[in-house]
Amino acid sequence: MKLILLGAPGAGKGTVAKLLTEVDGSVQISTGDILRGAVRAGTELGKKAEAFMKAGDLVPDELIMGIMEERLQESDCANGFLLDGFPRTIPQSEALKALLARIGIELDMAVNLDVPRDVILDRLTTRRTCSNPECQAIYNVKSNPPKQEGICDKCGSPVIQRDDETEEAISKRLETYNEKTAPLAAYYEKEGLLVNVNATSSDIVVSTIKEKLGL
Ligand code: AP5
Ligand code: MG
Repeated sequence: MKLILLGAPGAGKGTVAKLLTEVDGSVQISTGDILRGAVRAGTELGKKAEAFMKAGDLVPDELIMGIMEERLQESDCANGFLLDGFPRTIPQSEALKALLARIGIELDMAVNLDVPRDVILDRLTTRRTCSNPECQAIYNVKSNPPKQEGICDKCGSPVIQRDDETEEAISKRLETYNEKTAPLAAYYEKEGLLVNVNATSSDIVVSTIKEKLGL
């Protein structure tokens, strides 16, 4: 499957993407995970992105397109991919459209995960993420805690709160989403690709996607 997952911070893009990789081996491509990995590794990309991320601002489009141009042409994308957190601005959507046309790939759909704001705020303050950049498994102290408190089930690394999980950064991320990313729903509706799904349950999101794709 070749999907874009749209949705506010905390809507469950990462959670749904990980569940979908188990359906048909499509790979999850999370620009947030790639950037957090780069920050931890102290690369040039990480140095440029860190302050934007910590403040809850978007990283400049050119940096993101630089990553995605390469990533989408790697061999593991041939079986399918789940774009998690990308595109996030209209210029990124336009650039993605041109890139996909150039490399001859067609998207199946853009799935918009719809979750009420109070649920989002609760999810973001209770989320925990594996600190290992290669893993970044997602937990939640209420809905999905690790078996052993503070330790990742998958790789044994400490499970932490992200740097952008302060009250201030969360509110900035939601504001940025409303201003820059929410308009992408209308963009993909015009492209004939939009599917809106109530994302209170991730399992229902996965079954809706499978049904739409005839899987
Ligand atoms: P990114 O990492 O993409 O963060 P985000 O969009 O803010 O989204 P989140 O990862 O916070 O939420 P999610 O929707 O993945 O939810 P999750 O599955 O974890 O981006 C971070 C930063 O990087 C940005 O602010 C920006 O600076 C930069 N960046 C990234 N991409 C960029 C781009 N394209 N352009 C420019 N800048 C970019 O779920 C949340 C919690 O809820 C978890 O605890 C989970 O366990 C729980 N949960 C999920 N589903 C359910 C459910 N059904 N029931 C109960 N709990 C649930
Ligand atoms: Mg995420």
